[in-house]
Amino acid sequence: MKKLTNCLVNKKKTCFPIWFMRQAGRYLPEFRKIRLQNPNFIKLCLNDKLSSKITLQPLKRFNLDAAIIFSDILMVPYGLGQKVIFIKDKGPVLSKLNINNFIKMSENDFVKKIKPVYSAIKKTRNKLNKNNSLISFVGAPWTIAVYMLGLKKEKNILDLKKYKEKKDEVDLVIKKLNNFLCIHIEEQMAAGADVVQIFDSWAGLLPKRNLNKYCYIPNAKLVNFCKKNNFPVICFPKGIKKNYLDFLEAVKPNGISIDYTVNPRWARDNFGGICIQGGMDPKTLLFEEKKILAEAGKYLKIFKNYPYIFNLGHGLLPQTDPKKLDKLINFVKSYK
Ligand code: CP3
Repeated sequence: MKKLTNCLVNKKKTCFPIWFMRQAGRYLPEFRKIRLQNPNFIKLCLNDKLSSKITLQPLKRFNLDAAIIFSDILMVPYGLGQKVIFIKDKGPVLSKLNINNFIKMSENDFVKKIKPVYSAIKKTRNKLNKNNSLISFVGAPWTIAVYMLGLKKEKNILDLKKYKEKKDEVDLVIKKLNNFLCIHIEEQMAAGADVVQIFDSWAGLLPKRNLNKYCYIPNAKLVNFCKKNNFPVICFPKGIKKNYLDFLEAVKPNGISIDYTVNPRWARDNFGGICIQGGMDPKTLLFEEKKILAEAGKYLKIFKNYPYIFNLGHGLLPQTDPKKLDKLINFVKSYK
């Protein structure tokens, strides 16, 4: 039995499975080399051979329990017909959404456009050790809608004016995305992934009164779909603070990823025994080794005899030193 599934589904308490968000990425020189030769990020995600190779890079170096497929949550808007480009030091830029084309988009055309993501999963599964999990993922509808409709200002705050003006479009996009995301999940699992993670990276931008409509209900729809199909699912509603409790009550995933602002003790004592993942601040890894291990030790002590997956409170930073990451992984693996 894979450690990650055992922890998520059977709530096994005696091991700490370990993997990292953004474990395949810019902090690895072998990734940067491929990236330099492939300036178009979407094209790189659509190259199944290279995507699979990049997915496996961190597993070649480190003693990890899971691989996460190298792709992006923005492959979905791309598959739905939007142009998506990534600008260095600025992030993703999407062309204006053509609502009429979006409404007419067929499931077949969507799957066809991003098919290499699924063949990359198949290729990776064939090469991956059977004890390692292969994690597939989607962005939650709200987080994808933020990009599709450009609802965020540069400083990562909600553009309230736009948000109010585009209310009808937000409702429509979220509803329609829910269907396409179920298809995307199903295709990824059929290709050989064993776990799904749902990233709601911008849930924390929502005013509390809108959390139910735009975060809990859309996440619950995806989770219900996963549960109906026996796909183990982890949710990551980043930045919603104490509302994690309402989220859990409404959504009931197999596992919940906590961000670095969540108090791990509070989570352990209040989340009703559900499998918890992550929490440690990615910036910790920029400190000296002693400090990194002390902070990791804090999480491991709190989650002793609790179903806990070691990870961070958000993705690995590009400045992370792979040697320090290796030390951290060995520390977690040998923790008694
Ligand atoms: O975790 C992994 O290693 C798997 C691959 C993965 C990527 N993106 C690759 C990537 C995953 C799981 C994601 C998820 C993702 N993408 C999220 C949710 C998680 C989070 O970070 O909150 C979001 C919001 C995105 C959208 C996105 N993709 C942004 C905002 C950016 C640019 C800024 C940044 O964070 O790097 C990307 C680009 C991206 N996606 C890179 C990678 C490795 C960097 C590409 C590069 O410049 O080389």
